[in-house]
Amino acid sequence: PAMVSSLPSSPGLFSIPLYRHDQGWHASHVSMVGAMVADACFAARPTDILVATLPKSGTTWIKSLLFATVRRGEHPPAAAADHPLSSSGPHECVRFLESQVYAHDEVPDLCGLPDPRLFATHVPYAALPRSVAATAGCKVVYVCRDPKDVLVSFWLFQNKIRAAHGQEPLDADAAAGFFCDGVSPFGPYWDHVLGYWRAHRDRPDRVLFLRYEEMRRDPAAHVRRLAEFVGLPFGDGDRGAEEVDAVVRLCSFERLSGLEVNRAGKTRFVGGAALDNSSFFRRGVAGDWTNHLSVETARRIDAITEAKFKGSGLST
Ligand code: A3P
Repeated sequence: PAMVSSLPSSPGLFSIPLYRHDQGWHASHVSMVGAMVADACFAARPTDILVATLPKSGTTWIKSLLFATVRRGEHPPAAAADHPLSSSGPHECVRFLESQVYAHDEVPDLCGLPDPRLFATHVPYAALPRSVAATAGCKVVYVCRDPKDVLVSFWLFQNKIRAAHGQEPLDADAAAGFFCDGVSPFGPYWDHVLGYWRAHRDRPDRVLFLRYEEMRRDPAAHVRRLAEFVGLPFGDGDRGAEEVDAVVRLCSFERLSGLEVNRAGKTRFVGGAALDNSSFFRRGVAGDWTNHLSVETARRIDAITEAKFKGSGLST
């Protein structure tokens, strides 16, 4: 940690400094150490499934959908009251490698976890633990969201944390300036998305690429895609359709955000106080940026997106 904390840092879009490394900006020097330890120590298995996202892209939702889908044999989604997602926060059900699993002095023993093991990460594709790419079969589920909504969601999330630390809120223009300069956690946004997009193009069987906005439009179709991707497809008949609907309902914003565990519970991450689970639920819609960003800022972000994604095959 001492060596990493001597790396360049910036206040960026964060209440604590962001630390720079060769793949972008890390949310704190401790999560950077967690990512290094994960790289060195995580031994991927062919059955492992990793959720990868930028913060505020829908991580909480995709973790819940993946957990509910993969564990549906042991935990039927229709039995919602008894489901682990009703008593534990989504970030306890699927933990981040860099800020939860490898966040302690001792390296954890993950051998006893049942297959398929589910983990999450915010690191760019190029910074994934090396065993992930080297292990045939190990799969990655990426979710991408409109950068304007990612910015707004992160800015408001950070302002809550700043307020809790007695810090002044950051205004939207300052936040947008940092974001456009790439100084956002695990950013630049565009490099992160492109890294996973290219990996998906190269190996669609290994990397699934989903979009938050499309998931909002048709969650059931995306739960089916997710299940197929991880090799656990739902049946075509009525039973399959009911199960898919039960997963969608179990993981809906309205249901999860209303649970006691997500209203009053907390989750501990490395490098700071435990975060309120409620801070991961705000509005949960696509396009809320229109209520917060100026037309000029939106245009600036769209222009960067268009320029960066040009020729990649990734639509804006
Ligand atoms: P908003 O701030 O736009 O509402 P992350 O989980 O990556 O931190 O992202 C948080 C964003 O996802 C927040 O967006 C939050 O409201 C939204 N979200 C959380 N749970 C969700 C769910 N079950 N369905 C849809 N969106 C959800």
